[in-house]
Amino acid sequence: LASIEIKMSDIPEGQTKTFEWRGKPVFVKHRTATEIAREKAVNVSELRHPQHDDERVQKDEWSVVIGVCTHLGCVPIAGAGEFGGYYCPCHGSHYDGSGRIRKGPAPLNLNVPAYVLKEDKIVVG
Ligand code: FES
Repeated sequence: LASIEIKMSDIPEGQTKTFEWRGKPVFVKHRTATEIAREKAVNVSELRHPQHDDERVQKDEWSVVIGVCTHLGCVPIAGAGEFGGYYCPCHGSHYDGSGRIRKGPAPLNLNVPAYVLKEDKIVVG
């Protein structure tokens, strides 16, 4: 499929769900106010791949990333790791709740796919 539609109501606040898009996993994270505040407060200058959360989301409640580790391409585990986001078990990369690399060998943040937010759904692709 060229694009996929994800119903926001299918993902409760505080949860991350995985979808498949063009043969790759896409993680959609419905962030809580606490998670949003934590990601906004990260000191960007201390990041390996410096990006503010605002550059990575269209709406604070929704983080959409491609679930392919930027180290060697394994699929990270959602809701795991030390930074409230994702953990790649292949070689131990930790990503935060914005999908930014925080610890471990991965060089870059998880990629953000092209997507459009509609009233009640997210269209990826
Ligand atoms: Fe993810 Fe190596 S492939 S840490």
